[in-house]
Amino acid sequence: MIPITKEAIRALPKIELHIHLEGTFSKEYVCELAEKLHVPLPRDKEHLFDFTCLAEFLEMLDWNCSLIRRGEDAEQLAYQFAEYAKEEGIIYAEVILNPTHWKNISLEVLVPSVLAGFERAAQDGLTDCRLMVSLLRTQSTETARDTVEWLIGNPHPRLIGLSVDGNEEAAESNERFSPLFAKAKESGLHLTAHAGESSGPEGVWEALELLQAERIDHGVRSVNDEKLMNYLKENHIPLNVCFTSNILCNIFTEENHPLKALFDYGLVVTVSTDDPQILVDTMCYELEHIASLYGWGMEELIRLQYHAAEAVFCSEEKKELLRGKIREFESNC
Ligand code: ADE
Ligand code: ZN
Repeated sequence: MIPITKEAIRALPKIELHIHLEGTFSKEYVCELAEKLHVPLPRDKEHLFDFTCLAEFLEMLDWNCSLIRRGEDAEQLAYQFAEYAKEEGIIYAEVILNPTHWKNISLEVLVPSVLAGFERAAQDGLTDCRLMVSLLRTQSTETARDTVEWLIGNPHPRLIGLSVDGNEEAAESNERFSPLFAKAKESGLHLTAHAGESSGPEGVWEALELLQAERIDHGVRSVNDEKLMNYLKENHIPLNVCFTSNILCNIFTEENHPLKALFDYGLVVTVSTDDPQILVDTMCYELEHIASLYGWGMEELIRLQYHAAEAVFCSEEKKELLRGKIREFESNC
């Protein structure tokens, strides 16, 4: 076993595939924006990010995002994420952005600004970030349709996919969104869906069958359905698992979390941070924590990165480039 060290985890070329821009606001940044806008904080700074369930957590994201009112601030937030990612040793990231959380900036300003932030970051040698725009489970079909039509009409090389997130328990949305996902696919966008987090395995089946999702964000409840586990394995459908997020949102406990079981079963499991500033701290911290809990060495962490390189929504050339960086690290281990 190759022992884990903080330095080795940092140096490992990492790929982050399940991260919400909404979850990248630091407490300091939220306080700074609120002060600038003369908006009172909903709680004192120490308890600003406290929540007790997924629904409360999603409301907090709404509040944080409501502080972004200008394209420049959205651009800056995107750039700051790429800076953080570079420091963490993340070589490539696919970032989710859900416009419904951003009440004070329009989709038409928000999305191009975030893409511009990623573009500037890439030119400055920071992490290569791509964008997936997300629908919210509970939003109306009409507003979801408007978003998808706008995305199809405004292609951009960094805009690579459509996603759906939010509380799966709160709305029956797979059937409503099915034609929208089909249209997005037709236009060349990749498809991912949050499923099997607050829904059971049936949520994952629906994401695959009704939304044609190519990969699943979370998907951890798949562990309760052997037929589904076999289907995911045979079809190489990746699950982007967020361990600490699941613990804090009361989906599983550390003791009964299925990450290791899914990994040992041979599924294409990746580890992601979901909402790093609010939930997890950092990608390096998350990997170190999981490795120490499961007694893993660098081998398992390297395998997770190969899984992520298989799961990315980019060209074969880019995939090979990512694999090459992991291989190079592995050969020097
Ligand atoms: N949006 C941000 N984080 C989320 C999560 N864990 N589940 C659903 N929607 C989200
Ligand atoms: Zn998520």
